[in-house]
Amino acid sequence: MERPRSSAANALSFYIHIPYCVKRCGYCDFNTYTPQELNSANLSLITTPYIDAVLREIEIAKKRVGAVDVPTIFFGGGTPSLMPSAEITRVISKIRQEFHLEEGAEITLEANPDTLSASYLDELVAAGVNRISLGMQSAVPHVLAALDRTHNPENVERACQLVNDSGIAHLSVDLIYGVPGESIEDWKISYEQALALPIDHISAYALIVETGTKLAARVKRGELKIPPDDETAEKYLIFDEAAEQRGFAWYELSNWAKPGGACRHNITYWNGSQWWGVGPGAHSYFAGKRWWNVKHPNTYQNALTSGKSPEASNELLSEVNKRDEFVMLQIRMSEGISLNDLTQEELARVSKYRDSGHIEGANWDAGHLVLTRTGRLIADRIVREMLV
Ligand SMILES: C[S@@+](CC[C@H](N)C(=O)[O-])C[C@H]1O[C@@H](n2cnc3c(N)ncnc32)[C@H](O)[C@@H]1O
Ligand code: SF4
Repeated sequence: MERPRSSAANALSFYIHIPYCVKRCGYCDFNTYTPQELNSANLSLITTPYIDAVLREIEIAKKRVGAVDVPTIFFGGGTPSLMPSAEITRVISKIRQEFHLEEGAEITLEANPDTLSASYLDELVAAGVNRISLGMQSAVPHVLAALDRTHNPENVERACQLVNDSGIAHLSVDLIYGVPGESIEDWKISYEQALALPIDHISAYALIVETGTKLAARVKRGELKIPPDDETAEKYLIFDEAAEQRGFAWYELSNWAKPGGACRHNITYWNGSQWWGVGPGAHSYFAGKRWWNVKHPNTYQNALTSGKSPEASNELLSEVNKRDEFVMLQIRMSEGISLNDLTQEELARVSKYRDSGHIEGANWDAGHLVLTRTGRLIADRIVREMLV
């Protein structure tokens, strides 16, 4: 289990939201927009003014937090790989100029397999990007079609090869399972292909049918049928076993890595470190305060061009909130939680899960609560019962 190198009070990670996609996938409710939705025929007309606004928010961050160390930057979306490399460079240079970007800082960019080329990757390397996260989702055409994904599955291997050739050290792929029409065999095909790729990290998420999405409407009309929960749980278990056999260890419920491949940026979210989310709808956490930005890119840009903060609202976390969140996030991780961090009552409420094989016995005896493979399937229930 790796921790970010800097989780001290003077460290701040940056999340940069890129709220654009060529087309909205049917299952996705992320805060992202197509050029048509923004009444623009061309994404290139949007990108430079958007990044101008991002740079202004980074200046606000500097005024608010001062000279902090930056251990990680994560460009997420949307589809960050739609941004010209010059725009990505502008953001990284700005952070480098305003703060102390740590030597060896992890800089991740989420990418669509169709949008990568050798020259683009070379430019990203020159900008400092050293980790790519590819949205693979599935290797099976009818599953990709149910997800309404447009990328060609054959492009994933090609994209991985290009990333490796570029010298980018870390590569991850995202998978989704539990998709309508996906059999256990389909899932095996997808994850076997993924695990054979030259990657050091893999995320596998159970499909969430988000209200208001095209997928939710199709499920409601009876056009698509969500597979039974037991089958989706089975998919988690067989994937975890296969990942382990291929040298990937789980370090968070939905994330597996080869040694040295854990995502340091995501660990900052889970271990209570501080981060600043730049962009529309982005959330931040600094000095015990959480806040989030206005949601629409136009409202966001208008606020910044008129010299205002894009913050929509905020909350101060009470000590109880902070502690509940710590327990909730920590229990999802392979390092688990020290029994000393839990009360006798909390321990008494969950000790039955040690007997039922959902909590690891040897770790429990050594003073640590770590979920077993089957325990991870009911992590939320265990936390709920523990914290009541
Ligand atoms: C911000 S998305 C984006 C990355 C990139 N835009 C893409 O789709 O390839 C990050 C990941 O969240 C996962 N995801 C998005 N919506 C989901 C949903 N409804 N259920 C489960 N996973 C989801 C997908 O695996 C996706 O790759
Ligand atoms: S490409 Fe990614 S962010 Fe964009 S709509 Fe699809 S899943 Fe959502």
